[in-house]
Amino acid sequence: MGAAGTVRLVDYSPWPFELPTVELDVQIQSDHVSVTSQLQLEPRQPGQALVLQGVDLQLESISIDQTPLNKDQWVLDQSTLTIAQPPDQPFVLTTRCRLHPDSNRSLEGLYASEGMLTTQCEAEGFRRIAFHPDRPDVLSRWTVRLEADQARFPVLLSNGNGISIPVEAEGRHAMRWIDPSRKPSYLFALVAGQLSEIRDEYRTASGRSVALRLHVEPGDESYTAHAMASLKRSMEWDERVYQLEYDLDEYNIVAVRHFNMGAMENKSLNIFNSKLVLADAETATDGELERVESVIAHEYFHNWTGNRITCRDWFQLSLKEGLTVFRDQSFTADLHSAAVKRIEDVAMLRNTQFREDAGPTAHPVKPSEYQAIDNFYTTTIYEKGAEVIRMLHTLLGEERFMRGIAEYVRRFDGTAATTEDFVESIAAGATQDGEPLGFDLDQFRGWYHQAGTPLLSIDQRWDAERGEMVVSLQQSTAATPGQPVKTPMVLPVSMALIGSDGRLNEERLVVFDRESATVTLQAAPAAQAPALSVLRSFSAPVVLRQSRPLADTLLLLAADDDPFSRWDAAQSLYRDVLLARASDQPDQPKEAALIDALRQRLGALTAGHESELATLLGLPGLAELESLQSPADPPALYRAVMAFRERLAEELRDPLHQLLSAARVGWTQAWPAGQGHRQLTAVAWTWLAADDQEIRREALSAVSGPSMTLARAALRALQPVDCTERDEASRLFEQRWQHKPVILDAWFSMEASMPRSDALDHVRGLLQHPRFDPLAPNSLRAVLGGFTANTLAFHADDGSGYQFMAEQILDVDSRNPITASRMAKVFSRWKTYADDRSALMHQAIRSLADRGGELSANTQEVVTLLLS
Ligand code: PHE
Ligand code: ZN
Repeated sequence: MGAAGTVRLVDYSPWPFELPTVELDVQIQSDHVSVTSQLQLEPRQPGQALVLQGVDLQLESISIDQTPLNKDQWVLDQSTLTIAQPPDQPFVLTTRCRLHPDSNRSLEGLYASEGMLTTQCEAEGFRRIAFHPDRPDVLSRWTVRLEADQARFPVLLSNGNGISIPVEAEGRHAMRWIDPSRKPSYLFALVAGQLSEIRDEYRTASGRSVALRLHVEPGDESYTAHAMASLKRSMEWDERVYQLEYDLDEYNIVAVRHFNMGAMENKSLNIFNSKLVLADAETATDGELERVESVIAHEYFHNWTGNRITCRDWFQLSLKEGLTVFRDQSFTADLHSAAVKRIEDVAMLRNTQFREDAGPTAHPVKPSEYQAIDNFYTTTIYEKGAEVIRMLHTLLGEERFMRGIAEYVRRFDGTAATTEDFVESIAAGATQDGEPLGFDLDQFRGWYHQAGTPLLSIDQRWDAERGEMVVSLQQSTAATPGQPVKTPMVLPVSMALIGSDGRLNEERLVVFDRESATVTLQAAPAAQAPALSVLRSFSAPVVLRQSRPLADTLLLLAADDDPFSRWDAAQSLYRDVLLARASDQPDQPKEAALIDALRQRLGALTAGHESELATLLGLPGLAELESLQSPADPPALYRAVMAFRERLAEELRDPLHQLLSAARVGWTQAWPAGQGHRQLTAVAWTWLAADDQEIRREALSAVSGPSMTLARAALRALQPVDCTERDEASRLFEQRWQHKPVILDAWFSMEASMPRSDALDHVRGLLQHPRFDPLAPNSLRAVLGGFTANTLAFHADDGSGYQFMAEQILDVDSRNPITASRMAKVFSRWKTYADDRSALMHQAIRSLADRGGELSANTQEVVTLLLS
């Protein structure tokens, strides 16, 4: 392990060699794998040393142009192989290495999962397979020969097009895979094992046939229809909306149980966490079905935004991730409800990205340095990166934005590009017709370089005489680590006036790019003052602080024509009443007004708007509430949420029951139909379960029913209620799904987050459960992530929850640094708590830091940031 040292963007220089082709010969033996690699190398100038990366590789032979090298011609250390004086003319370097995938627990490089062999190379995993520059700006044509025992590894996959080739040895077989497109090493993949194949076909817009192949463990075949349909929808959407067609003859997706992340876009051979492939109505919730669809789309969209145009270096990570998230968000919005999708994405942004941006691990969308690149697969790179692209889209409009995308593809297809290249291309494409851009591009680039969430403050003054709303805007961004001074950002601020009759008056997109400004909006003639609706559709990723009369908020909640703004009006009221309760000063008038407004919304439900109503009834997340409280007090917030929910149930009992009766018609409809009804059912159950045994019985019976959405809604509704139905529901679910690890993980998570006085012991018990797999990041996240969501237990006053997590992180770190360092971020808010709590959490972080050299470089980096 050991420290990785700091990598800096300013130090970038191109690799001194070209590497036109890579040839791999992979021999899978019973107790090891032998990899022979042939790199065709062409020095750009004479006299350059050749430095290749290699980690945990057992080097068995090394030669140049078939001649073995002498011991004094090369130097090997922990992570590099150096040949100080390679030939000045093109040459072929051949190395043979021995690997031990069975003992590789890091889930990086080549490793074993449930008897199959699989790879994960992004970001720097290829160096665990063969000596190679292993950097994304080195593009090559790859040929791979795979040979293995026919019975144990009947399926042998890699990138590109495969053909079976003859083998002499008895009982063995081989495949040759040729990938016609040039690609960097992080997109390399191989899979070997006993897998069942589900095959389909897609005909592209230009009429080519693409073989679609899904590979799953035998027994899981029947859960693949949704994934396959999602893939076809993605291909069709990218052709229709972006005019981008698939470029190879086949597209493979493999489902793997042991995987650190969601999925990986390896060229023509995507590897997926099995939970993101195996899903139907009986085994997955509606939310999970939508997530499977969107991740399939995400990885597919990477074929253009990521693979054909890749990143010059890892500082450009958001070039592919931000853009591809933006694309998958647009895809889901198009296929389902754009309004609900936007609401869900913003709720998630506020609870995860804003939290990151306000803490010790805050970093820009384009960082300028890092230690472990794995630590930078963050919500800032992904989701804030997507927001930055969304702002370009908002500022330019669909047509000009799409011209920009076309220009980007035209300029950079087949190359490794930078975020700068992207922004330049968008601007060039958008202004092709001579129309000016409409904002300062230089200043807009600040979104890539400045960390922290801008605070946008809005004050309004109604001039009744003139019928004008005078709006003053201010922006500021708090200092973040390493960036004490901040400058104003380009903020697209969408505004409108909503008349007291609910009619939309003037609507305008204001480009606010200074510290302060004033904007005047003209109202339609009316007796009463209109309400100001700002940041419609969440037009910029900022924290909004707005002084606004309660009556205006209520008007927007009821009548704003922008569904996001209706939702956000309700959110602002929830936030206010919950924060007031958490500090023991309930705001009775506001609660009463909010409950009245909700009652009206419940009564006014029209068909087709069920999901939207369900999102309106969703309370803000604890993470978001914590960020608005100083010092933050998670247990107090948790209690406030629970108590307010009780009040909601009491006051809205009748309409909730009516809602529930109406919602039942949707229970059995096939996703996406019926989704809104099921969401409303979940809300009604959750609010009513505490003191309504009828409801608890109804929920309990859903656990054995045909809909996973309802079963999980039932578990969630019963979770906080200490009752026999809860125990029974848990037992039934566990029994029913004990042989399906992907599904049982949801049970582990419910159990770990269950509020109970012996929660910590209960969680320790789960870690010993016969079905708990400590090598599967999904299971770790279920139990340990579940525990950190168990607010009262994780934040126990004696610090036992923090200590427990520190111990667990240490344990996971010894085998899987990538997962451990992500988990260590649960401590990132320690400075925002009151003294006692802060000291206890600090102690837990220190106990990690004290292990010094034992920690992986990944976890070391996070711990150091937390303590800085
Ligand atoms: N590149 C993957 C994606 O977002 C995520 C990933 C990163 C997977 C690193 C594995 C390792 O689509
Ligand atoms: Zn991605």
